[in-house]
Order: sequence, then C-alpha cells, then structure tokens
Amino acid sequence: MTDMPPGSRIVLRNTLREHESPFDLAKDARDGLTAVPRTLPSKYFYDARGSHLFEMITRLPEYYLTRAETEILQRESGRFVETSRPRVLVEFGSGAARKTRILLDAMRERGLLEGYGPVDVSVDASRRAAQALIRDYPDMVVEGVIGDFERPRNLPFSGRPRLIAFLGSTIGNLETVQAQAFLEAVRAEMTGADAFLIGFDLVKEATVLERAYNDAAGVTARFNLNVLRVLNRELGASFDLEAFRHRAEWNAGRSRVEMHLESLREQRILIPAIGLDVTVREGETIRTELSHKYTRESAEMLLGSSGLALESWCTDEARRFALALARAPR
Ligand SMILES: C[S@@+](CC[C@H](N)C(=O)[O-])C[C@H]1O[C@@H](n2cnc3c(N)ncnc32)[C@H](O)[C@@H]1O
Repeated sequence: MTDMPPGSRIVLRNTLREHESPFDLAKDARDGLTAVPRTLPSKYFYDARGSHLFEMITRLPEYYLTRAETEILQRESGRFVETSRPRVLVEFGSGAARKTRILLDAMRERGLLEGYGPVDVSVDASRRAAQALIRDYPDMVVEGVIGDFERPRNLPFSGRPRLIAFLGSTIGNLETVQAQAFLEAVRAEMTGADAFLIGFDLVKEATVLERAYNDAAGVTARFNLNVLRVLNRELGASFDLEAFRHRAEWNAGRSRVEMHLESLREQRILIPAIGLDVTVREGETIRTELSHKYTRESAEMLLGSSGLALESWCTDEARRFALALARAPR
C-alpha cells in the first residue's frame, strides 16, 4: 500500500499491517509485560511525538552520538561514495534523515544520485523526511518502506548499486543475536555492487554514557515515558505516567546502556484489549531500550558472524563513535 498521490516523486509502501509484519503492538505488549524482567520493544517509542522527542535528543549537549557521527560523515562521505559508486541510498531507521543529507550530497556532487529508499516504522518521520528531501533534491525519487527493518526483505531499488546505511547506532538497540540475524538478512539481499555503512557507538567511560541517556533537561525521560502513552492510546492501557520514573544505567558486563521505567509504587496495569491484568511492585522496572556499545573487535566479530566483510573503519577524532563500511563477499 502506498500513501502518496500518483505522479508524486515519493512512494512510501506501508507494510506495518501486512500479515507477516513483526510490528504487532498487542502481541509484543502482552509478551513483554508478562516476561521476567518486564520489557517493551523500543520500536514503539516512535509515534509522531516520540520521533519529535528523539530529534530533540540528538541536539542535547549530553548526546554526543549525533555530533560524532556527523563529524565522520563530513570527513569520509566522499570516500565512501568513491569506493562504492552507488546510484541510490537505502537507509534503515532513517527517521528525520538529517545526517543522510551528507551522503546524498556526496552522491549528487559525483553525478550518481538517483534515489533514496528509507525504511522506518515511523509514519510521521518518514513522510516529513521524504517531503523535505524531494524539495531539496529535485532529481531524486524516494521509494521507501514504512515498516519494521527487522524483516529486511524486498529492499528498495534492487538491481541498482546501493549504499545501504544504518546510522545513529540503532544497531545497538538490538540484542546481539537479533543484530546478527538482521545483518544476515540484509547480507542475503545484497549484491556484489552494494555496500553497507553501519554506525557503532563505542565503549567509553560509564559517566559519559550514562549522562548521554540521563540529560539534565529531562527530554530522554519524556521520550522513555512516551511508550506508555502509546500503549494507553493504541490499546486502552491504564498506565499512570506520573507513577513511573526514567532510569538509564550502564551494564558493563553486557556492554550496554539499559533504559528502564521504574514503578514508583505498587500498581495494577489493565489492558482490556489484550486481556492483561498485571500488578507491578514498587521499584520494579519495565526495560524499554538497550543501547549496546561496541569496540572495533566486537563490531568486526558481529559483522564476520553475519557473513559481512569489514572494508573500512573510521572513528571521530575523540574515538567516541565509528562508521564501518562492509561488503557481502560473493
Ligand atoms: C535511534 S533513532 C535514529 C534515527 C536516525 N537514523 C539518526 O541517526 O538520528 C532510530 C530510528 O529507527 C526507527 N526504528 C526503530 N526501530 C525500528 C524497527 N524495528 N524498524 C524500522 N524502524 C525502526 C525509529 O523510528 C527511528 O527513526
């Protein structure tokens, strides 16, 4: 299903409600809220409000990730494009697609740019980004997917040399086994002409990591609580947002920042739409996001175990963040 008028230079195929889509809030809420520990998948943060809050996070002084990745893109995009000569850019978890423009510019300057294929669950962010991009890149078409990147089948622009990007260290939101399965599935879709550019946030001091997810202005807390708002609206859940507090902590043993919502009192949660009735104790948490941090070794191991070969590894000056360019060997 596309949701743009015929003749438009934008085609966004919405696969969220397709039979095989892994985007199933009711099932995920039931499974996650009855699991030990309780969890909710981070992909449900991103309704219009959540996507807007995430954009605000990228501008926070504590959130170094976007600035570090932008620095690498500004320095290296020309080289990435020269070595892979893509005609189109496909991007997972594209969101507002702001950093994307650095890659699109590098392609356009070399006369290569024909199309852009965003793949994102956020309807609002995908539409807004596509509309802004076709205004600023008049010779480019957008053929994107509103859907779950965890099933990366039938990627846009098959048959054309593609640069496939996965920025923002969104790969870190996946458990290692999920990340491996995702990368394997992308590799299966890649031809020898495609290159894959992946952003990894790097292991660093706990204080810097914890500050990035506990900003002084409380934007990350609002972003975290937004998932409860989504459940209240979409499933008629009874979450009292005042009765939970945001918590984000570095788990050194698992090399990840974990984001939780901690219950401030014992409370009963009712979601009649899915027959759920659970009591959450005071101090109990719902884990809402994982942000795995990598080293060059752990990233290279992940890529290798997914059948991808690392071609280049670039970090920002302060070595906070890395971009890996990988290929699918034939
Ligand atoms: C951490 S943000 C990164 C946004 C942007 N790429 C950046 O670097 O600033 C994650 C993005 O991935 C999208 N997203 C999260 N989980 C997803 C999933 N399972 N499938 C598709 N998109 C997803 C969100 O809507 C959001 O735009």
